[in-house]
Amino acid sequence: MISIAEQLKDLFSQALVAFMGEEGRNVDPLIRPAGEERFGDYQSNVAMSLAKRLGAKPRDVAAKIREHLLAEPTATELCESFALAGPGFINIRLSAGWMAGQLAAIPAAAPRGADRLGIEPVAAPQTVVVDYSSPNIAKQMHVGHLRSTIIGDVIARVIGFEGHRVIRQNHVGDWGTQFGVLCAHLKEKMPTALDRPADVHLADLEAFYREASLRDEEDAAFHERARAEVVALHNQDESTLRAWRYIVDESRRHYLPVYQRLGVLLTQADERGESFYADRLADVVAWFERARQITAPAGLFPDGAMLRVEESDGALCIFFVTASGEPMFKNPQGKPFPMIVRKSDGAFLYATTDLAAVRFRVFELGADRVIYVTDARQAQHFEMVFTAVRAAGWTSREAGSAEVKLDHVTFGTILGEDRKPLKTRSGENVRLADLLDEAVRRAEAMIRANEADPDKRRGFSEAEIRDVAEAVGIGAVKYADLSQNRQVDYVFSWDRMLAMEGNTAPYLMYAYARIRSIYRKGAGDNRGEWSVESGDRGQATEDRKQATGVVITLTEPAERMLGRQILRFAETIESVAAGLRINLLTDYLYELAGLFMKFYEQCPVLRAGTDEVRASRLRLCDLTARTMRSGLDLLGIRVVERM
Ligand code: ARG
Repeated sequence: MISIAEQLKDLFSQALVAFMGEEGRNVDPLIRPAGEERFGDYQSNVAMSLAKRLGAKPRDVAAKIREHLLAEPTATELCESFALAGPGFINIRLSAGWMAGQLAAIPAAAPRGADRLGIEPVAAPQTVVVDYSSPNIAKQMHVGHLRSTIIGDVIARVIGFEGHRVIRQNHVGDWGTQFGVLCAHLKEKMPTALDRPADVHLADLEAFYREASLRDEEDAAFHERARAEVVALHNQDESTLRAWRYIVDESRRHYLPVYQRLGVLLTQADERGESFYADRLADVVAWFERARQITAPAGLFPDGAMLRVEESDGALCIFFVTASGEPMFKNPQGKPFPMIVRKSDGAFLYATTDLAAVRFRVFELGADRVIYVTDARQAQHFEMVFTAVRAAGWTSREAGSAEVKLDHVTFGTILGEDRKPLKTRSGENVRLADLLDEAVRRAEAMIRANEADPDKRRGFSEAEIRDVAEAVGIGAVKYADLSQNRQVDYVFSWDRMLAMEGNTAPYLMYAYARIRSIYRKGAGDNRGEWSVESGDRGQATEDRKQATGVVITLTEPAERMLGRQILRFAETIESVAAGLRINLLTDYLYELAGLFMKFYEQCPVLRAGTDEVRASRLRLCDLTARTMRSGLDLLGIRVVERM
């Protein structure tokens, strides 16, 4: 299946070619979902944009396009009507019969994570690197890492679903002078960690880090030893490397379980930290040093802009200058703001590593696109890195080949009720592990309260209570975040994210469980039609029996609306991927759940008038559940069968 929006676009393109010749192919048909239900399902504004160019009245242009559409059998099969409206809109009403046919053609369910609902992968898959999470080693993950981790994960899932080859990269901060301090401290405080690293563990990474930094500040002799450790690390001294490796491993023991709990797909294999690039940095810097001055290739940034590689106070800097000699980046005092790639003491920096990483990703991983997910404070850093590598020509693998696309996906801050960045009561960073514990604890309390209420009780076993609480608690935290426009700050609120009403994970998960229970009842009447198993814990086998031969009818308005929404899943994913805007998916799912509830109110399923209608409606239930499960799966949120 190709999304409805894409199919309409194709039909309009054909009509535009028929109307104005080959150049019509390059005109965007401007197809949008209709603003209001009574206007139809979609609308095209193309006539308005074309009229000026053609020197005609928009309404006349629209009428011509419509004529060509009506002459095209595929167009009249897909659509019931094309109506002219206003100054020159074309309102499109889809054919219910065609939609029903599309729904009926959706193949049987595949297991969770592999259920494509008939949506075809892209025709030209790309290799896309997604750089996300990327915590700094030797620190506990705190709430500041939540957004990069879950937003990046959803982006990777959505792009993968589209059919692209995704390479996840966890660019952990595992290199730099602080490791001299940590290694020196470890060698003195816990020498056994070097001999028996498997048995000795750091209970509190954060405390260890603090202790080490404090000593570094207060004890001059220690400071000297720490500096010597940095040199030893660069020279690959065996005992220092062992200390370093121990610290990296201990950090990983803290963050891998957090990923797992969050349902984030990152594994150790995706880790390619800053240390990986250490022995490539000198070469990167030498390249720029040799180039001295680089004029940017045309079209990549302002005409005539250039890079100047110069020493300033002993540090090697890249200055970005426009054609008129103005700095492209300025510091708050208005002075030229360069990207430093080597400090006066010879040390390389965060930026140097990112230059090396782009080169590696483009030339060795074969990336066609690289997506970085970090908070908005790094916007300027990435702007400089992107500008430098584009100028250097590192974003095209060979002369004339397509430019590698570099995207920085930013997000705002999570705020507390006081509208300041979320902290614990004592003013510390909230540890991510603690936050997740709290979420599950609250979800569990909610479920236990329901179980105590005779009207709400489900009769869960202890194991089920814990399983559902885990899914709901973690799902609530993730969904509350992912359903925001990522660029804005948002206030963290337990009550809001755990509410059973509104655009929340519990509401959607409950809706899913409810649909599944209706479906189970229907299937229990021995029609053998149910196709979805959440199958998340690996124990449930997929029942591949499907409702083959079931004819779907979309007669009632509520059926039609629900059916159309299910079919819109494909274009929702397209829009999410196009703008890397995840809240379009959460909005879609919320709307889907709402339309299902309306459908269920207005259209009896189990007690439908005829067997045919009953089977059709049951199939709509099944497709709704599958779509919700797939959508939530793209968000990395697990559904439960009962709630
Ligand atoms: N470790 C960095 C931080 O905590 C994030 C790294 C993002 N990725 C990158 N390639 N710079 O801020």
